[in-house]
Amino acid sequence: MIKPFIAPWGSAVLTFENLDSTNRYLWQQALEGAPHGTVVVADHQSSGRGRRGRQWHSPPGLNLYFSVLLRPHLRFEQVPQLSLVAAAALWKILAGECSGLQIKWPNDLLCNSRKLAGILSEMKPGAETPEFVIVGVGLNVNAQVSDFPTELQGLVTSLSCECGRNFDLSELLDRILREFAFFEERFYQEGLKGSIRDLINRNFFLAEKDIVIHSEDHKIACRAHAIDDTGRLLATTNDGQKMAFSAGEAWLDKRI
Ligand code: BTN
Repeated sequence: MIKPFIAPWGSAVLTFENLDSTNRYLWQQALEGAPHGTVVVADHQSSGRGRRGRQWHSPPGLNLYFSVLLRPHLRFEQVPQLSLVAAAALWKILAGECSGLQIKWPNDLLCNSRKLAGILSEMKPGAETPEFVIVGVGLNVNAQVSDFPTELQGLVTSLSCECGRNFDLSELLDRILREFAFFEERFYQEGLKGSIRDLINRNFFLAEKDIVIHSEDHKIACRAHAIDDTGRLLATTNDGQKMAFSAGEAWLDKRI
């Protein structure tokens, strides 16, 4: 069980043995008025949510599953950038532990091309600005590949698999949250431009790779380059058109 401690935003981290989903639970708390910086973590999630309606596999007691409630003063279109801010903070902490760590737009951390962490940000719109945003992180820490369903085993990794040792989950969460709070503050002051964007582009999994972007109901084959100051993925289509994607999902183009 994660040991309770004070989150960097000032309130105690809410720890649970079991929740259906830390994002769903925290959403409910946010509706009831929980403050900016409330953090929820669970040892196990029975219905962990991934992006695009997928399930986040959450074996008990092995990994980190947590969500942070933010009530940021941002425009709607800036909200997806918070996932990149979280990815940059995770990279900063975890790169000290294992090599081969890269960020995959819009919100994955890969280690040696296998998925180490995923981020799911969910927003409740207010009248003119977001009312709140829940940033949910699933990080594979002490799980072994055999703890995942067979169909995921070739795609996932964990810190333990990469580093050959186990990690104290409470201590790791504390470090990640402090880094996230630091990056969040920097983001409010200067946006992505500068150090956050540069960190991501220096460690960008998609850089100069041929990919297919799934955006709304389109699939577009292109060459990925980098992210810009607003978190858009810059790419060139196969017929030479320059594009900037603000949302979507990127897959390596295996035909090439
Ligand atoms: C992805 O699809 O890559 C995003 C996965 C996000 C999973 C985390 S685990 C903690 C939080 N609670 C959830 O239900 N989902 C996020």
